[in-house]
Amino acid sequence: MPDTDGSIVFEGVEHAFGDRVVLRGVSLDIREHRVGIIGANGSGKSTLARMINALVLPQRGTVTVNGLDVRKNKRKVRRDVGFIFSDPDRQIIMPTVAEDIELSLSRIISDKAARKTRAREVLADFGLDGHADQPSHQLSGGQKQLLALAAVMVVGPSILVADEPTTMLDLRNSLMLRHTFADLSEQLVVLTHDLPMLDDFDRVIVLDDGLVVADDEPAPAIAFYRSLMGR
Ligand SMILES: Nc1ncnc2c1ncn2[C@@H]1O[C@H](COP(=O)(O)OP(=O)(O)OP(=O)(O)O)[C@@H](O)[C@H]1O
Ligand SMILES: [Mg+2]
Repeated sequence: MPDTDGSIVFEGVEHAFGDRVVLRGVSLDIREHRVGIIGANGSGKSTLARMINALVLPQRGTVTVNGLDVRKNKRKVRRDVGFIFSDPDRQIIMPTVAEDIELSLSRIISDKAARKTRAREVLADFGLDGHADQPSHQLSGGQKQLLALAAVMVVGPSILVADEPTTMLDLRNSLMLRHTFADLSEQLVVLTHDLPMLDDFDRVIVLDDGLVVADDEPAPAIAFYRSLMGR
């Protein structure tokens, strides 16, 4: 029976790009609602996160999402896992802001007029009202990040993986994002260097050179990471 209660399981995951070993045997059983992953630049966080929706497949070991091996169930897993890249240009597709949301909505709403109406509501929810007809490439970096988030959330994934979602956001929008995340019923995995963002998370995992070196509640895990970085 597939386990559909929100589980992300890594078992003995190893990965290298060419000669560069990036993950050295990671085993994790993630069932908490909100989980942070932190670690130095190049420690393997994005590689690990991309395995959750089969963007990267592990060379050794397995990754299982809601009971399904991602290697064998890419399509289903990609429907269940919304992924937000740190670079929003990678996922903004359509010429205008509203069209980008409408494209996502086309997976769940067949009526064009209903899609247009819903897209405006979604843009307002994500602080982008007034930008609906603007060319997407003209948005500021933070506005693009919000658009990418809105486009992913709107189709209702059961798991949201966000790779550095606040890098371009100003204080107001990063607080807005924190509130949005706090209200989400979806399971959330956030990779970030914005440590205060994780204060009220359920669990924080610290990666270092491809290994899990701490896995705890936010305060002790962040303290460990600070000591690792000599801070
Ligand atoms: N597609 C790729 N091809 C070759 N090397 C890669 C590729 N993706 C990542 N790497 C390498 O793998 C290592 C881990 O990268 P990764 O992006 O997982 O790190 P990260 O922990 O997310 O870092 P950051 O905090 O800087 O985002 C790095 O040394 C990187 O150069
Ligand atoms: Mg990264």
